[in-house]
Amino acid sequence: MSTPIQIGIIGTGYVGLVSGSCFAELGFNVICGDVIPEKVDMINNGIPPIFENGLKDLLSNLLEKGRIRATLDTAEVVSNSDVIFICTGTPSREDGSIDLKYIESATIDIAKALKGIDSYKTIVVKSTVVPGTTTNFVKPLLEKHSGKIAGEDFGLGMNPEFLKEGLAIKDFKNPDHIVIGAIDDRSYNMIAEIYKSFTCPIKNVNPSTAEMIKYATNAFLATKISFINEIANMSEKMGADIDAVAEGIGADQRISEKFLRPGVGFGGSCFPKDVKALAATAKSLGIGAKTLDTSIAVNKLQPLRAVELLEQLIDIKDKRIALLGLAFKPETDDMREAPSIIIADALLQKGAKVSGYDPVAKETAVMMMPKGTEFCDSVAELLRDADAAILVTEWKEFITLSLDDFVNMKSKVVVDGRRVLDWQKLSDSGMKIKVLGNPN
Ligand SMILES: NC(=O)c1ccc[n+]([C@@H]2O[C@H](COP(=O)([O-])OP(=O)(O)OC[C@H]3O[C@@H](n4cnc5c(N)ncnc54)[C@H](O)[C@@H]3O)[C@@H](O)[C@H]2O)c1
Repeated sequence: MSTPIQIGIIGTGYVGLVSGSCFAELGFNVICGDVIPEKVDMINNGIPPIFENGLKDLLSNLLEKGRIRATLDTAEVVSNSDVIFICTGTPSREDGSIDLKYIESATIDIAKALKGIDSYKTIVVKSTVVPGTTTNFVKPLLEKHSGKIAGEDFGLGMNPEFLKEGLAIKDFKNPDHIVIGAIDDRSYNMIAEIYKSFTCPIKNVNPSTAEMIKYATNAFLATKISFINEIANMSEKMGADIDAVAEGIGADQRISEKFLRPGVGFGGSCFPKDVKALAATAKSLGIGAKTLDTSIAVNKLQPLRAVELLEQLIDIKDKRIALLGLAFKPETDDMREAPSIIIADALLQKGAKVSGYDPVAKETAVMMMPKGTEFCDSVAELLRDADAAILVTEWKEFITLSLDDFVNMKSKVVVDGRRVLDWQKLSDSGMKIKVLGNPN
């Protein structure tokens, strides 16, 4: 290409802002659109609206170089870009199926902008959407509202994102593979051009295949977690050492050791909603997806295992239970579908008082934790006079907690829901401790 490709991003959340910033770092000029004025202002002032390691420095640097900016105006994004990535959220509906309302509004806005533009643009769905969405939902909407024809007047493709929150920038820059599902060669070439500096394999597939690769990846990983959690629950009762079991099966290269850490269940903005959406789609097609249904069912119960273990140690009614960690995983402020919410809910329903501390997620937790939860600003404040603690999220600062940190608790009772504390040492020093997955 003679002139550098200009990139547009619609939706500046975890995926959009990280992708946009990383594309800008690669040398592209990037313009990001969002519907929330505060987010746009924050981005233009160098403050990421989300917590992601390294993003603040990267964004400030890119703003200084004039490589990235944000706007509320989708038409401005479209007119200033050659390739426009749709990165809006795709939440679940009540029945688990995918809610495409943000994809729909973003697509219509893009289409309306396309109407008045003569040059060829390529629209790329980066959001996670059920197979068929790009072809059967996005394409007709674009054509209807622009009056143009996909493949003739504009390009279209699907390019799923595999980054993990907490490691998003690193993941974006070092993917295992890049998947491009374009409607034709011209669209494919345009998208592939953006990734030409990447050394990993690039898969050229059709849009539905690209969409399914993303769903199947998340469904498989989520199922792997539910599987190891069930094995941990069994090991607890059968006297097996779950760490050795996980290591043992993980050593088999057909399985791999990744995603074999037992805990209080998976959460976040992807696994729960994506597994549910794929299962709901299968159901709507009359196929059903029993493995996925089970993976979700196991995961719903898993946070409650922490409460069950705590009740084996103390009567929790009227006691103050301290939750160490609230975000769905460390290194993020994302509280979507966090196990801490289910744990707090169950504790409150059983008459306990709940307080929580998270190194970065307090602001989002205040909006999402059940009513009645109290929030603390440090481990010391959280544990002071607490009757018991549950380690919910394996933040680094919790892994190194020692007896000194628990010394001001009213009673030294701890449940380790992530198997990261030095439980032998803590129990040798007189603490009552239960570890999810350890034999009683
Ligand atoms: N978060 C992850 O780790 C991750 C990883 C891979 C894929 N995904 C997928 O990527 C998609 C985005 O996820 P996310 O976590 O970044 O979502 P998010 O909710 O953090 O961000 C979405 C953004 O889109 C904006 N938006 C909504 N409607 C808009 C419109 N019409 N025009 C412009 N902006 C609009 C919202 O204001 C928000 O800022 C989802 O489909 C998700 O499943 C997420």
